[in-house]
Amino acid sequence: MSQSSRKRLLWRDLTLFDGLQVLPEPMAVLVEGDHIAGLWPEREFDPALAIGADKVGCGGVMTPGLVDCHTHLVYAGDRAGEFEQRLEGVSYEEIARAGGGILSSVRATRTASEDQLIAASLPRLDVLLADGVTTVEIKSGYGLTVADELKMLRVARRLGELRPVRVMTTLLGAHALPPEYAGRADDYVRLVCEQMIPAVAREGLADAVDVFCEGIGFSPAHCERIFQVAREHGLAIKAHAEQLSNLGGSALAARYGALSADHVEYLDEAGVRAMAEAGTVAVLLPGAFQVLRETQLPPIELLRQYQVPMAVASDANPGTSPICLPTLMAHLACTLFRLTPREALAGMTAHAARALGLPELGRIAVGAPADLCLWDIRQPAELAYAVQAGRLRQRIFCGEITHA
Ligand code: NIG
Ligand code: FE
Repeated sequence: MSQSSRKRLLWRDLTLFDGLQVLPEPMAVLVEGDHIAGLWPEREFDPALAIGADKVGCGGVMTPGLVDCHTHLVYAGDRAGEFEQRLEGVSYEEIARAGGGILSSVRATRTASEDQLIAASLPRLDVLLADGVTTVEIKSGYGLTVADELKMLRVARRLGELRPVRVMTTLLGAHALPPEYAGRADDYVRLVCEQMIPAVAREGLADAVDVFCEGIGFSPAHCERIFQVAREHGLAIKAHAEQLSNLGGSALAARYGALSADHVEYLDEAGVRAMAEAGTVAVLLPGAFQVLRETQLPPIELLRQYQVPMAVASDANPGTSPICLPTLMAHLACTLFRLTPREALAGMTAHAARALGLPELGRIAVGAPADLCLWDIRQPAELAYAVQAGRLRQRIFCGEITHA
């Protein structure tokens, strides 16, 4: 498209959170086509800079579009019964070892068609979008056969075609040992390495490979094998690690250059150091922490000390976090983990984008993609402070206003 025919949109008098910090004075933002073309303090703004632009907003808080960098949005069925069991005192691990938990969602997801999964997942995606999400990561992991994992990833990709949102997909074949492989974890890991990863790589269905490194998941040795094969296929690496115990999964993932280690409640200083050295993002999931009524807090102070970027995500899933509201996660990251509102917002924008290997997103900067949110609030901290619907005035995806 030629320069002159590109759409130009102008916002004036904004309080702006740029993905890392709140700017000290009111700002004007110009979007041209799908990119941010100008960013000025109001007092320096010269109307000649934006001749012909549509003035589409004045006042309010602008943030980057939110990035939900860890979800399991595609699944069938629900686990409300298990929620009640847990409230009666049965643990997540006990339910998993008895064949429930993840495996109960696997049973429901295997029998669902792609269209049924789309129908089940779209309303959840719509809630994310109404809460300001412009990029979402979606994992497989409730199929656990080659065909069913591919089915889930295809559904995830289709969701991104049905709605104005960027979808990043992650193969989580090593989420749980499926019943037909009971007692044969080696054989299942071989299936993941020799068939699942090559198939998703061949079909271009996944951007990354994830594992559940845990007693009820997969051992570090198995995860390492999977990381090696993911790397051979040019796929990024992520890990669910140190959620329920410390197996050193985060340090292992960091050694393989992982984009992120997620959960990390039981992460120790050696793990934090390994992540700092590798540039691996710590993805905090306060929804799962709260729903499982966990008590072991992630080592926030150490993560700060070693300057490990902290992202915050919904972990939307039927078991541990049946919640699709990233702004609620910002609130919980503050109240449960004691992040500052600024850290929580950076965790849902700049740092979340980094956890997906997309550092150009989650920022308001000249040249960055125009994924933005305009909120009816006075200061950015309110997004973490109050839990409230109806604050999103505009959601801008790739330079298009998609929600007003
Ligand atoms: O991120 N920890 C493992 N995986 C998910 C939970 C999945 C489930 O229980 O269905 C999580 O918490
Ligand atoms: Fe998860």
